[in-house]
Amino acid sequence: MTDHNPALENLLTETRSFPPSAEFAAQANSTPELYEQAKADRLEFWADQARRFLTWDKPFSEVLDFSDAPKARWFGDGTLNATYNAVDRHVEAGNGDRVAILFEGEPGDTREITYADLQREVSQAANAIEALGVTTGDRVAIYLPMIPEAVIAMLACARIGATHSVVFGGFSAEALYSRIIDADAKLVITADGGYRRGKPSSLKPAVDEALTKGTTTVTNVLVVRRTGQDVAWTDGRDIWWHEALEAASAEHTPVPVEAEHPLFILYTSGTTGKPKGILHTTGGYLTQAAYTTYYTFDLKPESDVYWCTADVGWVTGHSYVTYGPLINGATQVIYEGTPDTPHKGRWWEIVAKHKVTILYTAPTAIRTCMKWGEDVPAEFDLSTLRVLGSVGEPINPEAWMWYRRVIGGDRTPVVDTWWQTETGAIMISPLPGVTAAKPGSAQTALPGIEVEIWDDAGKAVGPGGGGYLVINEPWPSMLRGIWGDEERFKETYWSRFPGTYFAGDGAKFDDDGDVWLLGRVDDVMNVSGHRLSTTEIESALVSHEWVAEAAVVGAKDDTTGQAVVAFVILRGEALEAAEAEGGDKVVGALRAHVAGEIGPIAKPRSILVVAELPKTRSGKIMRRLLRDVAENREVGDVTTLADSTVMDSISAGMAGGGD
Ligand code: PRX
Repeated sequence: MTDHNPALENLLTETRSFPPSAEFAAQANSTPELYEQAKADRLEFWADQARRFLTWDKPFSEVLDFSDAPKARWFGDGTLNATYNAVDRHVEAGNGDRVAILFEGEPGDTREITYADLQREVSQAANAIEALGVTTGDRVAIYLPMIPEAVIAMLACARIGATHSVVFGGFSAEALYSRIIDADAKLVITADGGYRRGKPSSLKPAVDEALTKGTTTVTNVLVVRRTGQDVAWTDGRDIWWHEALEAASAEHTPVPVEAEHPLFILYTSGTTGKPKGILHTTGGYLTQAAYTTYYTFDLKPESDVYWCTADVGWVTGHSYVTYGPLINGATQVIYEGTPDTPHKGRWWEIVAKHKVTILYTAPTAIRTCMKWGEDVPAEFDLSTLRVLGSVGEPINPEAWMWYRRVIGGDRTPVVDTWWQTETGAIMISPLPGVTAAKPGSAQTALPGIEVEIWDDAGKAVGPGGGGYLVINEPWPSMLRGIWGDEERFKETYWSRFPGTYFAGDGAKFDDDGDVWLLGRVDDVMNVSGHRLSTTEIESALVSHEWVAEAAVVGAKDDTTGQAVVAFVILRGEALEAAEAEGGDKVVGALRAHVAGEIGPIAKPRSILVVAELPKTRSGKIMRRLLRDVAENREVGDVTTLADSTVMDSISAGMAGGGD
């Protein structure tokens, strides 16, 4: 455990507690008995949830087969269709008129899509993509802004049993290309562009560029017209989404697939350079996505207006925009843009307009709103809110308190939900109506989930102890592998403690046995709730001709949680150019280069040009010391450095302004 943030340790002295009100508890979906039911027979509990939340074409008889561990089979002999569960069955049950999606475009355009509308549009899209030769088992890359078509495209794929791979619209052409290649995608679904900070931004050019980087298996590109910008067109390959849908029938029979059929691949950063394609399958994933949406948010599909602010480019958008709420038949808001366009109250205006009752967002957004001040949300009626959720990184108690007081009117439960792309759905969270919430703690594994905290030797620690967070029983929405790399799957998650899933996070139990997450213990950073790999950014930097060597660390940042700080050694010629033209130009070019290789979110906050990097005698970069510099702390123990004077010059460089 090298990476603990000492500032987090004093969280454990938190004594504030917010028990549920009697009124809330009386109407809550969750009850304390849920934990007991799950404890009594964990597998039967999950089988009950799978039957309750999903409609199966062929019922399953087997719950879990873990004989081929770490690959699990949940509900393995059952068959079902994800889209039928998310859309059609609600129409069949007479809820076709219920609004599924309340869309707010950034420029102010709106759309209201009922479940019946969704069924029609998804069916047309499914027919359209089938007409392009896409079939069960194929992969489809989706590269779209946060517009209803993103959800419709995912559901259209799932309807025919094609596996979707959503690539966040903020990723670069290079990142898109590597994901298309890795998954052998046959089709790309994109848009001309989207709206971002009051302006149209483009997307299609990145697809065009990605497809010229090498030979791919892509035969067609379906293009949604969102902004009306001019786009380059490759005849025979590119097809307008609206034309393809208009030509397609609105009748389509969902294709039943086996429970373990691949529903989606989603790429996420790990400790090594190449993003991992996390594979999720159908039956178990949908069970846990639906179950957690219902219980952790106390969702009442008939009356709630739910809003998860995540983009579908991230796992939160998969589980808590597309699948969880729709499987439950909920009404949800989808907003395309940023919280401050055209004004800093935009989110709160949307909450007031649609009478949002459940809001799920990330600590970084909450801290940004704190910075903007209480007066901004105070202008809007937020009294309909009744549950608030947080995800993506540890939420500091001040942000938690602000969220509850200013947004939740001192009345709403706040659920701090811990999970990962790999876990597929929420794993640790308070249950509203049951748990007495503690600001800053995710608290308790959900009913049916077993987690422990282990020490270095793999021994479970008790209350008051700290170490590595492990999940010691398989769970329905667990990842089924890394696409195309079985060895890496075993090595990454199941080898630190052989046979047990290690999540990469450090955690502590307080004296009551509640879990406090302490951040990653590996070289993964968390910037605005988005996972970035230090190695991946280092690789991007050294791929620039000017850079000889690079080291990247995540430094504490008041708004984004962590920020990317890079230390680079330049090659001789670049150094001369830097001296001639001024370091700013070089640093600017390198930041732009990282944005081009990965995406703007990976752009270092600062880049410091150094003459040497701190290394151990065996050549390992000591990031701990660089983090000290980046966080303006006194540099720690340097005795294991090959050259202990290196840190003096780096610290002097940082003090001199660095970037
Ligand atoms: O370090 C944990 C942090 O985010 C990581 C997972 O990132 P990703 O796969 O991108 O998924 C983010 C959305 C689920 C975890 O390993 N993390 C996520 N939620 C929390 C958290 N850390 C502390 N508290 C949380 N509630």
